[in-house]
Amino acid sequence: MKHFETELIRYKENNLFVENVSIEKLAEEFGTPLYVYSKNHFINQYKRFENAFKEIEFQIFYAMKANYNLSVINTFIKLGSGVDANSEGELWRALKTGIDPSNIILTSVGKTRHEIKLGIEKNILMIKAESEEEVMLINKIAEECNRTANVAIRVNPDVDAKTHPYISTGLSGNKFGIDTKTALSIYKRRSEFRNIRFTGIDMHIGSQITDIDPFIEAVEKLSELYFDLKNQGLQFDHFDVGGGIGVAYNEDSVFSIEEFAEKTIPIFKELQCKILFEPGRFLTANGGVLITEVLYNKKNGDKNFIIVDAAMNDLLRPTIYEAYHHIQPVKKHNRIDLIADIVGPVCESGDYFAKNREISATKSGELLAIMSAGAYGMVMSSNYNARRRPAEILVNGNKYDLIRSRETFDHLIWDEKII
Ligand SMILES: Cc1ncc(COP(=O)(O)O)c(C=O)c1O
Repeated sequence: MKHFETELIRYKENNLFVENVSIEKLAEEFGTPLYVYSKNHFINQYKRFENAFKEIEFQIFYAMKANYNLSVINTFIKLGSGVDANSEGELWRALKTGIDPSNIILTSVGKTRHEIKLGIEKNILMIKAESEEEVMLINKIAEECNRTANVAIRVNPDVDAKTHPYISTGLSGNKFGIDTKTALSIYKRRSEFRNIRFTGIDMHIGSQITDIDPFIEAVEKLSELYFDLKNQGLQFDHFDVGGGIGVAYNEDSVFSIEEFAEKTIPIFKELQCKILFEPGRFLTANGGVLITEVLYNKKNGDKNFIIVDAAMNDLLRPTIYEAYHHIQPVKKHNRIDLIADIVGPVCESGDYFAKNREISATKSGELLAIMSAGAYGMVMSSNYNARRRPAEILVNGNKYDLIRSRETFDHLIWDEKII
């Protein structure tokens, strides 16, 4: 079988390490299933992004939906990042880190009145509007608060991001954003919205984008609209490209951030305003692993199953997107390879991490690492089957910290009543 390694998550003498800490040691101390993150992977990815765009004026807004553990958000904030928050809960989490609200963007296709009011009251950088009705509501709430709300319209550029349909967001048939014609009309009628200042223009065409062409096409389309509006006297502070840059989960070919920068910088330079980016997965995915213990090995007919103690409630991506995560032993061995399904204990056939996967034969009690689990892992976890959510560890060189404890049984019944 193949072994997947990154600069900071790799084997040392046949044992898998996150930076300088042995995963086996962490599993002994904290149990499994266990999320382990490499802080320096997060930092390196952020710096790589920054470096690629150093020629232009820009700011990164970490899309915290990818991994919103407070310590993870804080890692990026300390590097100068803002955050892209997608709900009142995310806004609340971000504010808990002490971030300056002027470094927060509020997204979401369906913001409640309360979320909008909170964004206005906290004076965040901008609220993205995703429908004409929402623009009207933001204006009304701002008027009630006697404030001016900073707003950018999220434009749906009608470009196929060529990613999984559930994470493709830039086609006209998707629920996201406002089509170009309507966006143009709203911006033109800006004087009607007296409590709104239109500070920018925005897009986000999808996630795990591995083909650069649709991305460039969308940037070009949005910049055409930008110039149309500029010609009509609109002065924008920012042009927001959203997130979506893909990562390698396997041997996928993915464009590099440097290539993306090389192709977009000439366009961005012409815009003469600040460029905003909202990466999530790019910064975190390959900096995390989910560690699980093999419970049983069995054969049903001709089919091999490896049953592990993690389940779909801990990492949902294979179940909902048929997403690939490389899975490998924490301790390398020389046993024969077999083809097996690697599955969890939950009562659903959709509870799996890999199907028909080549893996070297496992023994009960051994540890497996589910790789690339730093983005959209823990944040999508649930208590299904009354399973407690895993603990999270952040490794930094030789040191490690428990940044979220495993849930207790009391968490499972928090505030419930027997009547
Ligand atoms: C508006 C918005 N911005 C940024 C992101 C982050 O995307 P990614 O993690 O693919 O970079 C998302 C994720 O879906 C999003 O909806």
